[in-house]
Amino acid sequence: MYHHVKKLMYTVRVDTPDPRFGNMLLEQFGGANGELAAAMQYSVQGLNCEDPERKDLLMDIGTEELSHLEIVGALARLHLKPLKFDREYAEADPLIAIAGGGGVNLFNSQGNPWTADYLKITGELDVDLRSNIAAEARAKIVYERLINFTTDAGTKDALQFLMTREITHMKAFTLALESLSKPRFMIGKIPPTPVLVDQYFNTSTGHGEDGAIDARGPWNEGEDLEMVEAPAFQELAAASDETGGAAVDDRTTSSASEPEMIEELLVEQMADLLHAEGQLVKALPKMIKAARAESLKEAFESHLEETKLQVERLQEAFGLVGVTAKGTPCKGMAGLIDEGQEVIEDGKEQDDVAADLALIAAAQKVEHYEISGYGTARTGPWPVRRGCLPCRSC
Ligand SMILES: [Fe+2]
Ligand SMILES: [Fe+2]
Repeated sequence: MYHHVKKLMYTVRVDTPDPRFGNMLLEQFGGANGELAAAMQYSVQGLNCEDPERKDLLMDIGTEELSHLEIVGALARLHLKPLKFDREYAEADPLIAIAGGGGVNLFNSQGNPWTADYLKITGELDVDLRSNIAAEARAKIVYERLINFTTDAGTKDALQFLMTREITHMKAFTLALESLSKPRFMIGKIPPTPVLVDQYFNTSTGHGEDGAIDARGPWNEGEDLEMVEAPAFQELAAASDETGGAAVDDRTTSSASEPEMIEELLVEQMADLLHAEGQLVKALPKMIKAARAESLKEAFESHLEETKLQVERLQEAFGLVGVTAKGTPCKGMAGLIDEGQEVIEDGKEQDDVAADLALIAAAQKVEHYEISGYGTARTGPWPVRRGCLPCRSC
């Protein structure tokens, strides 16, 4: 229920009316970033919101925006009033002077009617909150520009009040978004395609004759990001027999012709790795015992803990693809561990350095075998289902 309290949220005072400035003020009355748009956007989002706490926030701010509409309306009205009587001003804006009698109406500063198209309402709370943060930022900058275009003290004060409230709202929406504790780049429920999601397409030409600047920054460089020359550029590069950087990853989860078979293959790879890690958990204590140097013992000990953790993570990955975690005998790892056992036996006849170096060599072979196993499991064009990013976590 709405209840009208017959006083303004902020008392408006205009010392010198300025009809042209009043016209600019209409941008915040019936414009795209204006108070009506804000009031309607948040209130309608609030009606759709099923989260009672955030619904309260949306309705509170939506209602406050209606109060702002009242302030801007009163302010604009005071500035526009001379249009009703002054022929010169009336000629400058017949819409307000003749049709509107010097009053405000739901138009922007150019006389374009207000439209519901201004509203950003998706029914997805976190997406809506992001829209609201952006809306408040836009409203803030519009108020700032208006402040810079008036010399009237009362008007400046009122606009300063309104501008400040936009920042307050921006903060509230930001904190509400953060309180949802959703990962920053997780929108909706369907995960993006792995690899492709971390590719930056360099769709501009580069240095020298090709262009002035090819900028690098956190948005296109870093551990997880891969720079990809755009498809058109790749074709050009191929034509001149040059490689154009990494290839575009255009695999999609639906391109697999037989997704079930490919998923089985992923499970096989994971089962092989699970068994391999299990064998390693048993073998590492023997290597710890055989190591002579204290630092090598410690390295094996910490690796034993990591290996146990890998077993847990693999089991978790099985859960993500909806399959019971079960290893299948990994002959490759069994062979490597047999070799390791031989190294331990031989080492009994060797001096400390030779024995330890042989142990390190055996351990490295094991690690490289695992690197190839995980690399394959991670890279395959696996179908993604039930929100799983297969093996990115293992
Ligand atoms: Fe506002
Ligand atoms: Fe606001």
